Amino acid sequence: MELQAVEKSQAASSINNASECAKKIENEGFPKDFPATTKFANSEFPFVIIRLDRIIQNLSWIARSSRAMTILNNFMQRSAVPATTFDLLLVRRGETDEVKRQRNGIIKTMRVYLNGKIVDSRDAVVSVFDHGFLYGDGIYETMRVYDGVVFRLDQHIRRLFRSASLIGLSIPLDVDRLRIAIYETLIANALRKAYIRLTVSRGRGPIGLDPSLCAEPTVVIVAQELKEYPGSLYKNGIHLIISETRRNSKEAIDPHIKSLNFLNNILAKIEAKKKGAYEAIMLNVNGHLAEGTISNIFFYKDNMLCTPSAECGILDGITRGVVIELARTEGMRVREGKFTVKDIYAAGEVFLTNTTMEVMPVSNIDDRRYTVGSVSKLLRKLYREEVNAYISDVKAEGPSLWGENQ
Ligand SMILES: Cc1ncc(COP(=O)(O)O)c(C=O)c1O
Repeated sequence: MELQAVEKSQAASSINNASECAKKIENEGFPKDFPATTKFANSEFPFVIIRLDRIIQNLSWIARSSRAMTILNNFMQRSAVPATTFDLLLVRRGETDEVKRQRNGIIKTMRVYLNGKIVDSRDAVVSVFDHGFLYGDGIYETMRVYDGVVFRLDQHIRRLFRSASLIGLSIPLDVDRLRIAIYETLIANALRKAYIRLTVSRGRGPIGLDPSLCAEPTVVIVAQELKEYPGSLYKNGIHLIISETRRNSKEAIDPHIKSLNFLNNILAKIEAKKKGAYEAIMLNVNGHLAEGTISNIFFYKDNMLCTPSAECGILDGITRGVVIELARTEGMRVREGKFTVKDIYAAGEVFLTNTTMEVMPVSNIDDRRYTVGSVSKLLRKLYREEVNAYISDVKAEGPSLWGENQ
């Protein structure tokens, strides 16, 4: 789609040079009457200044609509993006081949969102005094992007805010700004099929546990091309162990906090690797099944889909929630409860869930063997259908960014 010419504001028309205008905006902010988009046809190269905040302010649909993203991506295919901030996306068009090559270089270098700015990954550095680094004091989310749309974005954001509130951390961005920041990071990396990691740490402060030592949280968003798990794993299933490492009790560190403090899970992962397994199942301190190091666990036994309940001390995975919904809709009996190793050893099928692996069948737990059976195959298929339906809904939503008659 071609960007339509947009009327220039007085403020913009008084500055003929686009880069001068961009600099002025970066230093002083947007003049009051600056329109959503401004085209500078009389520059050496035509420039377009797109005022993201104006476009998005009352249209939080950008976060749910890949249409806006498609349009911005179309620009990016032809454009260098010398600066992106919350308020300003400066797109240069009509570039020479030389500039195009540079632009390809820019896009090939990973760009990272760091505290309100998109920076080159080499410049995305955090202080050694950041309490996230010193103490694991912070939270995160992992999201998956399908065809330019973040699956269940609002649920991830809600969980991030819940984690923040459970550790008394105030995220310096509201929900809309977080959505924009996530999409901005995707756009800056020209990604449509991606893995996103959003981290909020307590921030930089003197050594000492007291969170009030840190004035400002650090916010980082990394988006990278998603490397899918090999198809052979879905076909044959993965090998698990029951770990000796117990899951943190919810009275100690509530697993509902998706925290940077991951040593509990790392110790279990080390154990799994030593035993040649792919993932470890952790029991809680009462000996009930809890979860994997980065996944939730399901098993099928006596015509019932079983999964440890929230009281067992687990992260309530977003994928887990979707799978439970799908199974119930399909008429399966689902039980969230307290289960033992004996229960899972006696199951016919076992699978894991998480955002990036979706539904992953299990071939072994310790010496027990399982078949990759019809239940995990069906739920994997239904999960994919749910993803596709969600992506289509999001794409169908929202007004067009630039209407035909603008
Ligand atoms: C400990 C733990 N449990 C479960 C999950 C699965 O959660 P989700 O389905 O939201 O990715 C994760 C994901 O990272 C995790 O770290």
